[in-house]
Amino acid sequence: MNFRFKVFLQTIFGIFPNSESINYFAQKHITKSLPINKDVFLQKQREALTQHEIFGMYGQRDGAVVYEIGCGWHLATALVLGSYKCYSKIIALDIIDHVRVELVNANLHHLRDDGSLPPDFADFTNKKDLRERLLSQLNIDLVAPRDAVNTEMPDNSVDFIYSLLVFEHISPEVIPLIMKESFRILKPQGFISLTIHYSDHYYTVDKSITEYNFLKYSEKEWKKYNPKLHYVNRLRHSDFMSVFRELGFEVIEEITDRHENWEEIFKDFPFSDEFTKKYTPDDLSITSAYIVLKKT
Ligand SMILES: C[S@@+](CC[C@H](N)C(=O)[O-])C[C@H]1O[C@@H](n2cnc3c(N)ncnc32)[C@H](O)[C@@H]1O
Repeated sequence: MNFRFKVFLQTIFGIFPNSESINYFAQKHITKSLPINKDVFLQKQREALTQHEIFGMYGQRDGAVVYEIGCGWHLATALVLGSYKCYSKIIALDIIDHVRVELVNANLHHLRDDGSLPPDFADFTNKKDLRERLLSQLNIDLVAPRDAVNTEMPDNSVDFIYSLLVFEHISPEVIPLIMKESFRILKPQGFISLTIHYSDHYYTVDKSITEYNFLKYSEKEWKKYNPKLHYVNRLRHSDFMSVFRELGFEVIEEITDRHENWEEIFKDFPFSDEFTKKYTPDDLSITSAYIVLKKT
C-alpha cells in the first residue's frame, strides 16, 4: 500500500469524534492487525520475557510493583508478566482506554495454549469482568484513561517501569514531563526500560520506502503526513538520551539498531536540511533503541 493512502485514511478517520473506534474497526477489518496473530503474540511474549529478565538482573522481582507506560489495545505484555505470578502489582496505564475484551481474550487463548495460564482460566465476559479479574487473578491494575504525565501514584512507589513503542508517538514537549513523573514515582535505585523505534512507521505498509523516508521532509511538509491518529515525533536517539541525562537518570544499557545498509542508503538520500544541520549521520542512522535507566 502506498503510505500516502494510509495517511489519507487516518486523516479522514481523525476528523470524526469517535476516531478511536473507527481506527479500531480499520485495524480489525482493513489492515487486520488486530487481534494480534500468533506470531505477533510470540514477539510480545519475548519482549515481556526480556523485561522480566532485566527486572531480575537489576532488582528483586518477587513482590515488586511494575508500571507499563502506554499499554495499548490488547495488554499482551502485561498478561505475560501477570502469568509469571511474582509481581505484587502490574499497573497498565494508557491515556486512552483502548483495551477491548475480544483482543485480550485472543491473548488469553495463546497463554492457555502454551500452558502459561491454566486451561480453566475463563475468557473475560465484559469490560467490568475484565478489570476485576485482571486485578484479582493476574495482579494487573488497568489504569486507563490516565495520562503518564500525572499518574496519581505516590512518590517512590514503583520498582520497575517499562514502555514499548510509545515514546516515538509522544510530542517532544511532553516527553520530559512523563520522564519527570516516572522519576518521582520510582523507588530509589528503581529502573525504567524503554524500547523506542525511530523509524518511519509507514515503512511497514509501503515496501517502496525505507525506515529513513520521513527524514526527507521539513517539519512543515511532514505535518501533512503525520495525522493525529498515527503521530510520530521523528526525534532521534540523541534527543532522548539528552532528556534522560538532564533529568538525572543513570544510563545502564543503551543498545541501538540500524538498517544494515544505512551507509549505502545515505549516499543519495535527500535529507531535509533540518536533520543534517542538527544531527550526525550516525545519529540519523539509528532506527531503534533499547534503553535501561536507573534512578540514582
Ligand atoms: C503504539 S501504542 C503502543 C502500545 C503498546 N505499548 C504496544 O507495544 O502494543 C502507543 C500507546 O501509547 C499511549 N500513549 C500516548 N501518550 C500517552 C500518555 N501521555 N500517557 C499514557 N499513554 C500514552 C497511546 O494511547 C497508545 O496506546
